[in-house]
Amino acid sequence: MAKVAVLGYGTVGSGVVHVVDVNKELVAESAGQDVEIKYILDLRDFPGDPHEAQVVHDYDIILNDPEIDVICETMGGLEPAYTFEKKALMKGISVCTSNKELVAAHGPELVAIAKANNCSYLFEASVGGGIPILRTLNTSLRHEKIDQITGILNGTTNYILTKMDKEKAGFAETLKEAQDKGYAERNPEADIEGYDACRKTAILASLVSGEYVSYEDIETTGITAVSQEDFAYARALNMSIKLLGMVKRNDTGFFTMVSPFLLPAEHPLASVNEVFNAIVVHGNMLGNTMYYGKGAGKDATASAVVADMIDLVAHKGQHINVNLTDKPASLSDNGSYVHRFFVRTSDECAEEAREIFGESVEQVTTDEVFGEFAFVTDLISEKDFRDKYEKLSVKKGFLREL
Ligand code: HSE
Repeated sequence: MAKVAVLGYGTVGSGVVHVVDVNKELVAESAGQDVEIKYILDLRDFPGDPHEAQVVHDYDIILNDPEIDVICETMGGLEPAYTFEKKALMKGISVCTSNKELVAAHGPELVAIAKANNCSYLFEASVGGGIPILRTLNTSLRHEKIDQITGILNGTTNYILTKMDKEKAGFAETLKEAQDKGYAERNPEADIEGYDACRKTAILASLVSGEYVSYEDIETTGITAVSQEDFAYARALNMSIKLLGMVKRNDTGFFTMVSPFLLPAEHPLASVNEVFNAIVVHGNMLGNTMYYGKGAGKDATASAVVADMIDLVAHKGQHINVNLTDKPASLSDNGSYVHRFFVRTSDECAEEAREIFGESVEQVTTDEVFGEFAFVTDLISEKDFRDKYEKLSVKKGFLREL
């Protein structure tokens, strides 16, 4: 019988307990032994909860119990989660987590501590919610040279963008819905400003490069500037707007970026809606593969934590290798990254825009927006685009095209 402690009885933590309860036999079969949740650490009490008796408030009870094989950290945030995880790993207790903020900030150090103490640090649920993407990259695709990863990595923003597009819903009301459904971060700025997708992109970039990509080095734009007018133009272009995390190999390293993109309707990511995430991975031999599933929410995210828990129980006393090191990655300057841009300016600036961007720009019209000149540029580098965009007298926004 393996004994496990869960840190944090919030959305994901209670989901972990629920998954182990509901799928008890399957979990045992997969782990090779029964798995018992011995402790749940939380500041709160949960009177009437079926697991009320397992709730403790003092982390040392867990740390000093020699029966504990695995700790699942589902508290989120940097502290005290970082200190708790580190203490466990230093004692040789394996840890799994859904805490992308912590993995993005301290993952390499925690993996190294785990290795030095013959235990493991796994974080499947930190990217793509329930989608088994990290295990796939670390096992099935480990022999592939990954050229590109393009993903919808944040459920909350995908939910908001879907509702804005399909139902013409307002931003604030849709964000509230995502919060009510348990998708959004405690501080939803992390979702809507793209920080959460940025951390997940950093984790993916680190795993495919085998080096450490700091989330602070990833150019990140969220969805707060995406408007109903943008969706009207996107419909006219037969395109969708999605917040994408991007990792793209080039001659000198990797481009990385998080940004809203326009995608052609036939692109497989264009039809990924609501809370779903999807990640397209291009391997040099394999070509494209795509992974799809619920990117946020209690049971889906918890299922990924439980998958790690099972792996850790089955590999007790061993270190499971994950390709996360502290060697700094060489990231390329995004200035030379080339694509098309969709640009909005005012009617009066049509001539000016053509002078700056060239006569070949393609005008986009929609009967839902008036008084604007909107157009799609030729292929142009990020740097050239920024230089030209700055010259426009009226800037009403732009979107990148995939
Ligand atoms: N707030 C995150 C999201 C939760 O919306 O994707 C899952 O990481």
